[in-house]
Amino acid sequence: MAHTFSVRENLDQLGKYRYVETECMELMGGWAYTMIDPDIKIGFGRQMFQDSVHADLLGRRIPELKGRSGRHQSITPSDDFVRLLEKIWNNSDELLRMVGLYRIIKPSLVESYRHHLEHLELPADEPTAYILRHIADEEQDHVEWGENIVVRLTAASKREDEADAWQEDLARRLQQSGGVWGEGKTPGTYSFKKIYSYSKLPARDSRWNLMKSPSEFTEKNWSFDTQEGKLHLLHDLLNSEFITVERMGRILSDFPDIPWQMKMDMARQAWDEARHAEIVQRRLEELGGHVGMFPTSCFGWEQDVNRPDPLERLALSNMTFESESCKHLRDWIAKANKTGDARSQQLVEFLLADEVNHVLYGVHWIDELTKNDPERRARVLSYPDQVLAEQHPVGVYFKETINAGNEQRG
Ligand SMILES: [Fe+2]
Ligand SMILES: [Fe+2]
Repeated sequence: MAHTFSVRENLDQLGKYRYVETECMELMGGWAYTMIDPDIKIGFGRQMFQDSVHADLLGRRIPELKGRSGRHQSITPSDDFVRLLEKIWNNSDELLRMVGLYRIIKPSLVESYRHHLEHLELPADEPTAYILRHIADEEQDHVEWGENIVVRLTAASKREDEADAWQEDLARRLQQSGGVWGEGKTPGTYSFKKIYSYSKLPARDSRWNLMKSPSEFTEKNWSFDTQEGKLHLLHDLLNSEFITVERMGRILSDFPDIPWQMKMDMARQAWDEARHAEIVQRRLEELGGHVGMFPTSCFGWEQDVNRPDPLERLALSNMTFESESCKHLRDWIAKANKTGDARSQQLVEFLLADEVNHVLYGVHWIDELTKNDPERRARVLSYPDQVLAEQHPVGVYFKETINAGNEQRG
């Protein structure tokens, strides 16, 4: 009879899977804003969420197998495996990163899951089988998605040889590291930090025309009850959706020590925003518009992702910009309804439902993490005002409408 895994053997492997899933989430999170291809940004938003769910499912099974202390939750397969991840992480080339993640790391995860599934003690260990089957299938989908992108990027850049050489080198290192299982190795102690230099703007493909000066910003003068107004507003929103995938990714990658549930929320938001980008782009095109038809503002990006406190980022973007955005979306829904645009109305209602949750993520985590730290709370909550007070047309716009909203409510 084939060898089947004991409780203890399960425990060691599940902790390694959870480590690798979490690292994949952080790699995608940190890379999203540097990737030019918009399909990659959207795929990353979706997969950041799915990988957070994989890690979460594994993390729930681990204590059921008597792994109740925290050290079982994350086990590095080997130091060499971590160095392999670091090598892939450090490469700044879009194609080579995709090769590293989708031809090396994720396929080795799938292989480990499939192999594991063949050695389960059943029905005793059915709960492990239940989650591993689900995770393996989804990872397989990720690999197939990534492979399509790699093929496209390779063909477009005619860099087959370079990509192949990189892949061969990584495959050799993976083998030497003992893979996701850390076969023949002791669990590692090595770790690396994902560090970023100051970011002025997220990467956009050549169709986009990013504003040089914020004074060009006029999008918010448009109204959703005319065809032209819709095009302006949807086009501006599309960029904001991409920005939010990118900034959620940065929180996941910049702050590995935030509470697990907060990571789950940020990953969930990244997925929401990725879907929003798809939805908004489709509607824009249905209405005869296209990406890059107007100049675009990335106001708020620089003020968000360069802040060292994740709660300041949430105060500015979730509690201020997204809360403001909810008001605009309500106005769009009313105008779409009034002008008989049922399609836009239906889609924007879904966007609004998600946005309300994003505001709540901000409110909840700021409240939760500063409840015993009034100084931090005061600093975090004053950050949006500090940004909006800058003499900046977009900021002034927000400040005016926020004040007007407050007066209405008051
Ligand atoms: Fe959104
Ligand atoms: Fe949002």
